[in-house]
Formats: sequence, structure tokens, C-alpha cells
Amino acid sequence: MKHFDFLVLGSGIAGLSFALKVAPHGRVAIVTKKNSAESNTNYAQGGIAAVTSKEDSFEIHVRDTLEAGAGLCREGVVRTIVEEGPARIAELIELGMRFTEREVPGPEGGREFDLGKEGGHSKRRILHAKDMTGREVEGALLAAVAARPNIQVYENHLAIDLITSQKLGYVGPNRCLGAYVFDRATGQVDTFAAAGVLLATGGCGKVYLYTTNPDIATGDGVAMAYRAGAAIANMEFIQFHPTCLYHPKAKSFLISEAVRGEGGVLKTLDGVEFMDQHHPRKSLAPRDIVARAIDHEMKRTGADCVLLDITHQPAPFVRERFPNIYRTCLQYGIDITREPIPVVPAAHYQCGGVLTNVDGETEIPGLLAVGEVACTGLHGANRLASNSLLEALVCAHRAAQTALARRPAPADFQIPDWQSGNAQNPDEMVVVSHNWDEIRRCMWDYVGIVRTNKRLERAQKRIANLQEEIQQYYWDFTVTGDLLELRNIATVAEAIVACARQRPESRGLHYNLDYPAPDPAWAQRDTVTRKPDRLAAPGWGPEL
Ligand code: FAD
Ligand code: SIN
Repeated sequence: MKHFDFLVLGSGIAGLSFALKVAPHGRVAIVTKKNSAESNTNYAQGGIAAVTSKEDSFEIHVRDTLEAGAGLCREGVVRTIVEEGPARIAELIELGMRFTEREVPGPEGGREFDLGKEGGHSKRRILHAKDMTGREVEGALLAAVAARPNIQVYENHLAIDLITSQKLGYVGPNRCLGAYVFDRATGQVDTFAAAGVLLATGGCGKVYLYTTNPDIATGDGVAMAYRAGAAIANMEFIQFHPTCLYHPKAKSFLISEAVRGEGGVLKTLDGVEFMDQHHPRKSLAPRDIVARAIDHEMKRTGADCVLLDITHQPAPFVRERFPNIYRTCLQYGIDITREPIPVVPAAHYQCGGVLTNVDGETEIPGLLAVGEVACTGLHGANRLASNSLLEALVCAHRAAQTALARRPAPADFQIPDWQSGNAQNPDEMVVVSHNWDEIRRCMWDYVGIVRTNKRLERAQKRIANLQEEIQQYYWDFTVTGDLLELRNIATVAEAIVACARQRPESRGLHYNLDYPAPDPAWAQRDTVTRKPDRLAAPGWGPEL
């Protein structure tokens, strides 16, 4: 058993920011399932939205966020995050983060942030490091973590399940005590105990067949919190990014919305602009509208993709502003300074998640959740671009303060080791990969950009069958990373469908042809899903 003061699950912006804040006050373990940089954070392109210019104001950023969120954001949370953003950005810069700057135009001269623009923003307010913001943020945070002897990083360690006093059979108020963690190198399951546990495991793009997310994004945190009995909210709001590179050899490569912010225009394959028929902001409309418009055009014309055209901008500007996108597309034979980029929508961001307040507190004392895994109410029914890195920074700070202020009294819980029972090696990996594919395709086909009641019902049945098979068939096999992730994507898929079926309207990212309009009665109403008894039955993990 490994004992720490704080256990952080995940090493993206949320986990690393939290770890740095609590490290002066106790020993911290960061558990991360691949190498420490591998995270959605690392691939962020556009940047971080924050009010830093004289032309902008908190009020306008709040208004843009509420508008994108389609009536579902919690306004108090939006205000807190927007207003505390600049202070957290200043701390990030102090840690070594370098945002792209430019010469101040005019006689005064000097330098200022080169602010980008993205869909739904009425002002330029996106701080960025060219088109590789995430890599710079992750690098700065990891360098700071490496300099803190109080923080121990466990790479290639995959958290399996949270340990709670209730699950251990203790009476009295529930409390999170740690987590069981699978060590990929040894194949063993370790027990990590800590008074404060942070879930910072990111999103669930891999639940869908096509996604901008890297392989780590299997919704593990949502699935673990669900199994531990926490409320999961608003999972129907899966954001599809409108512009993922469409090329047979490209896996999950995003073409940043900042390309449209710098004038990139969406066109059909025969070169006709179409966004003017869908929204006054055209190609820079909020993301849900752009993704749906592309889906509509692809279905209408039978095309496999649409085009994003930035060729009217001078080539040196495009190469300088988007070096990563330029280089990557060139590798696939597309010179974006001379030809339009083939793009398709793909699953990108989970707006719902583990229900928390703005301080990261979940329903389970001792368990905090921050970042994409959490549902604070900032994003509502549709996240405003580049608000998620901001949310993670602000909420990690607040969660750290909460964890330090509310340290639980020491208690003598006996935590048993993980028991594998009569586990055998799985020899039927084909079943695992088949079920992975089936869930992802089912979610893409039936629970995608446009939904219907029938499709949701069909998806629910399919996933329930798969869930049963996964629970019954695999429970006594030796754990492997693929099996654990399969179990998690099935649970998350089930949660997405459960939330989608609860909402009898179309709002933001949830578009259901059977209820094509928003219902005012559903504004400000979260959909919540909790573990049904069926999944509480003995199965994986120790029999406690
Ligand atoms: P992540 O950064 O995803 O980190 C999750 C961590 O948890 C990883 O280290 C992962 O390995 C680990 N983990 C997961 N499961 C387990 C487990 N079971 N056990 C142990 N470790 C686990 N947002 C913006 O605001 N601006 C942008 O410009 C932007 N661009 C984006 C571009 C792309 C291509 C993508 C995919 C997303 C983008 N986003 C952007 C969204 C944003 O990057 C994420 O929402 C944000 O980085 C999430 O941070 P996080 O710390 O919550 O999770
Ligand atoms: C992008 O660069 O388009 C991604 C921004 C985001 O998802 O917030």
C-alpha cells in the first residue's frame, strides 16, 4: 500500500496545476496511464480564453459563454471562472509558459499578446502559443512538477477504481480513501491511499468512432466516479469539433478553429460557401451550429467531407501562425497555403461529467474532480471554444484551496489489497477489440451530431447487452489496460445515452429530430445519471 496526502489521477492541465498547488503542504502522487505528457492538454491548439485586452471585458466574455451554452450554463460559475482567469494565466506565465506576442501597432510600440479569435467569441481573447498551445502548457507544468521533490509521478499506471469507505462496508458518512491502480509494467494492482483524491482524467472522445482526442480519452474518471456512486450530469452534450483533418492516413488531427478565426472559410467540395445559410457569424458561428451545418451539407451532397479554405491569406502568415497544422497537412500532401483542407466533424469534448461545484467538490467527500472530467456548469449545453483550459486552471486552484482547508481528520480505515480471485489470462482479445469497435460505431451512428428517439433507444439496448457481456464474461479475467478501458467506454456510453434520453428537447449540442426545438422548461435543468443496482453487483475488482 502506498500512502500519500494527495492522490492526483491524471497529468493534464487539471492534475498538474492542482498538484503544484498542494505540494507545499504534503506528499503528492500523480498517477497517469501513459507517459506524463500524453493528455488532451498536450494536443490543444487554439489556446486559452481570458480577458487581457482593453477592448474586451469580463461582461462580454461571460455573455459569449452564456450564449454558446444555450441557456444551460450556471451563471455564477461562469462569472467566477471568467473573472479569476487572468490571475491564473499570470501564474502560468510565472511558471515559464510563453504565449505568442506581437508588436503593438502605432507610435507607442512595445509588445502585447497576439490574441486569437474562435467561434462564438465576439472579441479577440485567445492566448496561444502559435498552434501548439497545449504542448507549451504541458511542458511548463511538467517542468515545474519535476522541480518539486514532494511530487512523485507514476507513469504507465492506470487507475481502475476509487476506494470509498462505503464500498469497504464502513457505516457513517461516505469518504473517498484512494484508488486501486494497475501498473502496466508489472501487471500488478497497487493500492494508493490518500486523504484527498483528485480526478483529473480528462474526457471520453474515444467512445466515438471518429475523434480529435488521443487514445487516453476513454472516460475513465466518469466511469470510476459512476461506479463509486457519484452523480454524473449532462453527458448528452458531447461537442463535435467541426474541422478534423479528413485523410485516410491521418488519425485524429485537429484543424484549429483559429484557422477560421484568421479568415478560413468553409466550402462544399465544389467550392461554394454555405455557412451564411446557417448563422450570421458564418464560419465562426458557435461550434454546435457549424458541426450540424457540415453534417447537413455532407448528407445533402453525399460528400465524405467539406473544405476549409485559408488560401486567401498570405503564405508566410499562414506558415508562421499555424506551423504545426501547415507541417502536418504537408506530410499528407496538402499545402494549406495553396489548396483547401478536407475536413469532417469529430467527437472532441465532453461538456458533462462528474457533477461538481466550482471548487471541484463532488458528492463524495474527499473526492474532487477538475477539468474535462467534471461538470461545473461553465459550459452548459455547448462549450465556448478555449474555455476548457481556462476552467481547468481556475478550478484546479480552487480545488487545491478546498482540499487544504478541508483536510479530513485521520481515521483508521482498513483498505484490503486488490483481489484478482481466480483470474486467468484473457485469450480472446478479439472479443475485446470487437466490443470496442461495436460501442464506438454504435455511438457514432446512433448518438452522434443528429439524434432521434429511435436511434437512442437502439443504442441503449445495444450498449446494455454489451455491458452485461463485459460484466459477466470478463469479471474473472486478469486485468489488462484494454479490458479496463473497454469497461469504462461502455459505462460512459451508457451514461451519454441515459442523459440524452432524459432530455425531451434540442438544446446546444443535443439535437434530437423528434424534439427539434428547445423547451424553456428544460433550461437550467441538468440531466443526472447514477449507478443502477445492476452495476453494483459483484463483478470486477475485489469482493468487498
Ligand atoms: P487531459 O489533459 O486529457 O488529461 C487527462 C490525464 O488523465 C492524462 O494524463 C491521462 O493519461 C490521464 N488518465 C486518464 N485516465 C486515467 C486513468 N484511468 N488512470 C490514470 N491516468 C488516467 N481546449 C481549450 O481550452 N483550448 C484549446 O485550444 C483546445 N484545443 C484542443 C485540441 C485538441 C486536439 C483536443 C483533443 C482538445 C482541445 N481542447 C482545447 C480541450 C482541452 O485540451 C481539454 O479539455 C483539456 O486539456 C483537458 O484537461 P484535463 O487535465 O482535464 O485532461
Ligand atoms: C481548436 O483549436 O479549435 C480547439 C479549441 C478548443 O477546443 O477549445
